Amino acid sequence: MSMNAKDVIIACDFASAEQTIAFLDKFQNEERKPFLKIGMELYYAEGNAIVREIKSRGHKIFLDLKLHDIPNTVRKAMAVLSSLDVDMVNVHAAGTVEMMKAAKEGLTRPDGSRPLLIAVTQLTSTSEKVMQEELLIGSTIGDTIIKYAQNAKAAGLDGVVCSPLESTIVKEGCGQEFMTITPGIRFADSAADDQVRITSPARARQLGSDYIVVGRPITAADDPVAAYRRCVAEFLEINE
Ligand code: C5P
Repeated sequence: MSMNAKDVIIACDFASAEQTIAFLDKFQNEERKPFLKIGMELYYAEGNAIVREIKSRGHKIFLDLKLHDIPNTVRKAMAVLSSLDVDMVNVHAAGTVEMMKAAKEGLTRPDGSRPLLIAVTQLTSTSEKVMQEELLIGSTIGDTIIKYAQNAKAAGLDGVVCSPLESTIVKEGCGQEFMTITPGIRFADSAADDQVRITSPARARQLGSDYIVVGRPITAADDPVAAYRRCVAEFLEINE
C-alpha cells in the first residue's frame, strides 16, 4: 500500500477571479478546504493575485502550468512559482531529465522545502497514431508513458499526471511511492462530457491514484458542495 497522502483536487477551470470566488464561497462553511487546481486560463487572466487570494482562504493549490523550456529558464521560472507558496506544480517530461532536475532545483527553497513537482508524460489528447506519425516517436504510447515517468523519477520528481487506467503500469515501472495524479474522473451515473476514458472516484482509488483531478462533475453540479463530498467519500472510502 502507498503511504502517500491522497486527496481530491477540484479543477477550477473558470475564466475569471469573480467566477472562481463565487464558486469557492459555496465551500466557506466546509471543514475540509478543497485542494484546487489552477490552470493556464485562470492564471493567465488573473495572475498571482488569484493564487494569493485562494491561498489566503486556506486552500492548497496545484498550479497546472506545464512548463517546457530550456533548463535555465525553467529553473528561474520555478523559483518564482516557489515563492508563491503553491503546493504542486508541473512540467512536461519531454523537456528532458536535465530540465526536470533544473525545475526541482529552482523550486527548492533555502530551507529545503518545496512544492510537489509532477510531470506530464504524453497528453491524453495525443493519440498513439499522432505520436508515431507526427512526432516520430516509434514506441507504443504505453511504453512512452512508462519511459517518461521513469525519466521524471530519475530527475527526482514526485510523480506524473496520467489516466487512472495507467496508474498501475506507472507504479509497476516506478514504484508504489511514485505518485499518480489522475483526471478523467466521472461518477458512475454522470455525463462523460468530452472525456473518453473515464473512471469513477472509487475505481481510481482501487487502481492506486494518489490524487484525482475533478472538474465538471463538481463545478457544473447543481450542488457542488454535495458533489465534492461524494467524491471525497468515494475516493477516500469514508463511510458517512
Ligand atoms: O471537467 P473535467 O473533470 O473533465 O476536468 C478535468 C481537468 O483535468 C481539466 O482541467 C483538464 O484540463 C485536466 N486534464 C485532463 N486530462 C489530462 C490532463 C489534464 O482532463 N490528461
